[in-house]
Order: sequence, then C-alpha cells, then structure tokens
Amino acid sequence: MEERKERRIIMFPLPFQGHFHPMIQIARILHHHGFSITILHTSFNFPDPSYYPNFTFRTIYHHNEEQEDPLSKPDASGMDLVTFIRQLRQSYADPFRESLAAEVGGGETECCLVSDVVWGRTSEVAAEEVGIRRMVLITSGVASFYAFAAYPLLRDKHYLPIQDSRLDELVTELPPLRVKDLPVMETNEPEELYRAVNNMVEGAKSSSGIIWNTFEDLERTTLMNFSPEFQGLIFPVGPFHKHSENILLTTKNKENHVTTEWLDKQDPQTVAYVSFGSLADIEEKEFLEIAWGLRNSQRPFLWVVRPGMVQGTEWLESLPCGFVEDIGHRGKIVKWVNQLEVLAHPAVGAFWTHCGWNSTLESICEGVPMICTPCFTDQCVNARYIVDVWQVGMMLDRNKLDKKEIEKVLRIKEMGEGMRESCLNWKKRASVCLSEHGSSSKYLEKLVGHVLSFDS
Ligand code: UDX
Repeated sequence: MEERKERRIIMFPLPFQGHFHPMIQIARILHHHGFSITILHTSFNFPDPSYYPNFTFRTIYHHNEEQEDPLSKPDASGMDLVTFIRQLRQSYADPFRESLAAEVGGGETECCLVSDVVWGRTSEVAAEEVGIRRMVLITSGVASFYAFAAYPLLRDKHYLPIQDSRLDELVTELPPLRVKDLPVMETNEPEELYRAVNNMVEGAKSSSGIIWNTFEDLERTTLMNFSPEFQGLIFPVGPFHKHSENILLTTKNKENHVTTEWLDKQDPQTVAYVSFGSLADIEEKEFLEIAWGLRNSQRPFLWVVRPGMVQGTEWLESLPCGFVEDIGHRGKIVKWVNQLEVLAHPAVGAFWTHCGWNSTLESICEGVPMICTPCFTDQCVNARYIVDVWQVGMMLDRNKLDKKEIEKVLRIKEMGEGMRESCLNWKKRASVCLSEHGSSSKYLEKLVGHVLSFDS
C-alpha cells in the first residue's frame, strides 16, 4: 500500500451509534489506503478514543456546556429527535467552525472534510469559510434518501403530511412505497422536519461527493434514478463492515462470550434475535406484548432491551414477577450484544428488527431473514424494500404488536423456502461486490483517487 500519511481527512460524524459506527468504519478503510484521520466529535456522546488508536480525536464543546440542557444527557432516547437534532445543529455550528478552522493549515495537507449528511448546512458553511472540500457520508440507504429528496413533490401531491385515511395507498411516484412507508417521524415541529430534510438533501447536492454505505447491486435502480447532478460523484462502497479492515477488529471482540456460549447451545437456525437498534423506544404496553409473544412462541430468543428503551422504566422491572425464571434457558434478555457476531452465528434463524439501515445491511450480509417492525424515518422505507423488493423478510406492523400476532409470526420458523433462497442469494451478492473486481472495490479505488484530486 502506497504510504501517504501526510494526507489527512477530517471527519465529522453525527453523534449517534447508527451514524458514528459507519463513519468509523469508512475511516478505517480510508486509513488503510494511506490517509491519516482526524475525527471532530461533539462533546455530546463523546466516544472513548482508546478504542480507535489510529485516529486523532478532537472534542467540540458547545457554548452552554455547563447548563442543564438536553445535550448534557448521555443519549437522546425518549426525545423528539427532530427537535433534538435542531438543537445539536444550533449548539455546535459555531464551535464546529472554530474547530475546523483550527485544524486546517497545521502543516499536513488536508484533503477534505467528510461530514455526516444530517449535519447539512452546518458543515457546508464551515467548510466554505475555511476553504476545504467537503464530502458527505450517507449512513442510510439510497431508496430512503431518494424519498427524502422527493419531499417537495410529496408535499405538492399532498402525500405529506400523512393522512391516516391514505396509509395503504401506493405512492405512484415512488413505487413500491405506500404512504405509510414514507420516511417521517413524529415531532412537535413538523415544519422543522421539512427544513431539516431540505437542508440535508441540498447539503448533499452541493457537496464534492457522496460516500454511501450500500452496494450497487442492492440499490442499482434507485441509484440510476438519481438526478444527473449526482452522477459520477456517488461512491457506494459498502457494506463497510465487511471490508477486511473492519472484519479483523470485529472478530477480536470477545466481550460477548456469555451470549455466544448461550447461542452455541441452540440448534441451527432456530433462534429469533430481537433488537430495535440504538435509538427507538417503545411503550410499556408494547414491551409486554412482545414479552408474552416471545414467551408463548416457544421459540428460543435473544432479546436486546436497552436500558431506557421502554418508556418510563429503567430496564425490565415492568415484566411480570417470575417471567424471566419462566422462560428459563429458552430465552435470553440482554442490554446490548455484538450484533455482527450474533447475526453471523449459525443458531440465528430470524432477526426481528426495526430496520435501521445498519441492521438491514448486516442481516442481508449474513443471509438472515428479517421480521420487520419499522419505527420511524428511513426504517419504514427499508422495511418495504426488505419485504417487497429484496424479499428477505416479512412485515409485522407496529400497530399490530399484540402477543397473538407476534406468536404467530415467530412460529413460522422457516418463513418459506423461497425467502431462505433469496437471503442466501443476497448474502452471496453482498460478498461479490467486495471481491477484487466487485463494484464496491472499484468505487473505493475511484473514491481514493477522487479525494487525492482535491487541491486544498
Ligand atoms: C439510526 C436510525 O435509527 C436508523 O434508522 C438509521 O438507518 C441509522 O441511524 P439505529 O436506530 O441505531 O440507527 O439502527 P441501526 O442503523 O440498525 O444501527 C444500530 C447499530 O448498532 C448496528 O450497527 C448494530 O450492529 C449495532 N447494535 C445494535 C449492536 O452492536 N448491538 C445491539 O445490541 C444493538
């Protein structure tokens, strides 16, 4: 590998698990290609840099650090995310600009800034002022971003705001999406959601390129549909976690040996793995329906319940007395797992997921069929594609979360031969794209050349 450590890429992740991890993964890939990496990270959710010894971390502090405000909390669960992201943007815009200016011009040659697309104009303005090229990282799929980009049209045609009477209607301009699949979220500030989405899409359009955690084969049609202004500047180099630089680090992680030991004792393809990612929260009523559904299904299950995930509770205290003893060794409830290891385990036969983009890709790469209960934004689009386009999962609508329905779905162990075949087929295609002449390898080569061509 050619050594060019003096070329530096500055990265600005959004401080949430589902965004930070892919940023770190692409950072490792680019570092392996000879770039040095500096991560500018908000004081909110600041990670432990000792896990990432190859990178330089800088903390960006916002100006109200001492005050009692939402950004001083350790995570954002239970908050109105639209409002929260607005606060993040406002609080960190100036400090980010100052930090970026301090970084640039320190002797090394900065090739560019790579910022999470959700930062939108926050990073655009700063990069312009400092005079550095800016690329964006999109940590969700192309199909959902395409739907975000169509917001003005969706509003013109009155699909948005969503009306309950139209939920099952096909959005003819965006097949196979139905109105209920459109990427929205509940918020007290609907106009702010529109502004944020517009800001994000425009920020991507004005960038010097888009790095995308997806692969061409998976989203070819949608990629081609994108307007010509994006063409040539899109780099679908995913799935990031399957690049060798990331796999090596994942398999070294042994902290989950207890879960692995439990999985080792289960029969092949029997376990339902249940996890709703790092942000979604559920009501206590839903939590109890899930618990009873899992118990009554008689199927082995591994269930991730994050502390704070169930509204109004700490962890499992709302489960009926004796519930955990009753399920015995058949079920395991944990606070967090190494999901990549779990999905790769032969005992896992299905993934009941909220369809966050990382979870979706990770499941596709391991050939695990999905039970889809999307909660908000891109998850709804992903679920529709999982079920109707890639045919690697089935839907379990959130409004049908009752124990009988859950039990019924979980008892369908094989979810049909056709689906298993489809899962294995996509697993193979995901690995082909990373082979020497695969699309993601080629795009990565182009991406490295593109970054090196910036004259900062
Ligand atoms: C968020 C958004 O909610 C999602 O819609 C968007 O696509 C990305 O950002 P999140 O909800 O956390 O992400 O879901 P997801 O994208 O699936 O990311 C979760 C990540 O956490 C995955 O990489 C998964 O492997 C990891 N995880 C989750 C664990 O390692 N252990 C767990 O127990 C649960």
